[in-house]
Parts: sequence; C-alpha cells; structure tokens
Amino acid sequence: MNRTVGLDLLYSEKQIADEVRRLAGEITLTYNDSGEELVVAVVLKGAFFFASDLARQIKLPILVDFVKLSSYNGMNTTGRITMTKDMETPLAGKNVIILDDIIDTGISLEFLRDRLIERNPKSLKICTLIDKSGKRQRDVTADFVGFHCSGGFLVGYGLDLDEKFRELPAIYMLR
Ligand code: IMP
Ligand code: MG
Repeated sequence: MNRTVGLDLLYSEKQIADEVRRLAGEITLTYNDSGEELVVAVVLKGAFFFASDLARQIKLPILVDFVKLSSYNGMNTTGRITMTKDMETPLAGKNVIILDDIIDTGISLEFLRDRLIERNPKSLKICTLIDKSGKRQRDVTADFVGFHCSGGFLVGYGLDLDEKFRELPAIYMLR
C-alpha cells in the first residue's frame, strides 16, 4: 500500500487487541475492590484509539475525561509543556488513571502527573500502551504497560508523524 511506504510493521492489530485485553484485565483487577468510580484521563490526541478500545473492556464504572498537552518544540518534547485542554472532572478523593499512547523522554507525563497530583486524587496511576525506555529523561514509571520498545519512531493506532498515520489500525516503525 502506497501510504505505508517506509513503514515496517511492529505490532499487528491482533497483538494490539491481545495486549489491550490483558491491560483491561489488569486494571479491572487492581481497582475491583475499591467499589468506586475510576476516572480515566485520556491524553489527546495519541491515546484516543487506545482509550476507546481499553475503556470498553474495563469491567468497572468509569468516568472518561480528556486532557491535551503540547510542547513548544513540536515533535521534540524537550520544550516546555503546556496543557491546552484541561479535564472537567474534579479529581479530589478519586481514583485516577492517566491513559497515554507512549512514554518517551517522560517530560510530558511528568508534567501531567504533577499537575494532577496537586488536585489531591485518592490515587493516581499511569497506563501507557508503549514504554519507550531508551530516551527517558525523567523519573516517570508507568504502572500498566502494553509494549516495551527500545527506540525508533512509531506511528499508527493513534500515534502520528506530523498528524499523519494516526488512523492506521496497526503500529509501524519508520524505516
Ligand atoms: P515524552 O514527553 O518525550 O515522553 O513524549 C510523549 C509524547 O510524545 C507521546 O505521548 C507522543 O505523543 C509523542 N511521541 C513520543 N514518541 C513517539 C513516537 O515514536 N511516535 C509518535 N509520537 C511519539
Ligand atoms: Mg501523546
């Protein structure tokens, strides 16, 4: 297919679906006994396919909300991070889980985690579909991880290169 020239398949649709199911099970087990609603904070735009698939398989009452971050340097997240869309849900006393597509340097998730902690949630955990450990610059650890990947630039299933390739149903590595 012309559109995928220069892309090598990394995780197939089936691998993603299996991993999402496993993650949903892990999350359900973790919060099962809390008897409380789980607030799911989806990081736009990258995590939106992931969140849509995952949320439908979490067997708990959840409240879905969205947050959008941007960095000054475009593709490089070494710049300053700002929250361009905030959540609408009050987090005080709530169990909150952040859903992100990928952790790379950790700069954006560290920023978001610190902003949300200020709101005094009862608990705050992080779930990422992909943990790219090779370039980590911040002490951010995800509590729930789909795939571990050492490096490269990935697209598809929500992940983009300058807004392109998000809609691909599988995940590819740029050649
Ligand atoms: P970090 O702040 O460096 O951890 O970067 C986090 C954000 O950068 C992710 O949520 C993605 O939106 C984006 N990002 C990092 N690596 C990739 C990649 O390989 N493909 C697409 N987006 C990426
Ligand atoms: Mg992102």
